[in-house]
Amino acid sequence: MTDKPALLFVCLGNICRSPLAEGAMRKAAAETGLDIEIDSCGTAAYHVGEPPDPRSVATAAAKGSDISDLRGRQLIKADFTRFTHIFAMDHQNLRNIEAVRPADATAHVSLLMDIVEGREGAAIADPYYDGEEHFEFTWQDVWAAAQAIATQIKAGG
Ligand code: 4NP
Repeated sequence: MTDKPALLFVCLGNICRSPLAEGAMRKAAAETGLDIEIDSCGTAAYHVGEPPDPRSVATAAAKGSDISDLRGRQLIKADFTRFTHIFAMDHQNLRNIEAVRPADATAHVSLLMDIVEGREGAAIADPYYDGEEHFEFTWQDVWAAAQAIATQIKAGG
């Protein structure tokens, strides 16, 4: 990568999956010693200004990642030039992202799990209506992806 990597993780509400992805990426970047920009947002405006779901905060905290200071925001057109990479949690997110992509977009947009060998094309399930254990499943997915991203950046790709 020639530009400093700037990574944006996108889900629907920006309170469950993408804050966990942001927390996992912050942890992976710290452990790998990467100087990168990391943020998350939602395609919907339902939870703008709100902290992450308490189950996401608790799950990240148990892994050593504090995401309690994050606040929900909605994806905007400027994100497509501010960030080098935009990662969608599921296929509907991907469609919603593509729907607002401006003509001058430079960001590479992809499904997050495409970066994990053997998980290409997989969606990260929305844990919002499920039990606490589903947030652990979400963490396992976003942590695998964050480690793969960190490895790829470290390797210069
Ligand atoms: P997220 O989960 O997209 O992973 O943040 C959701 C959170 C809230 C809603 C939907 C999904 N909602 O409909 O309010």
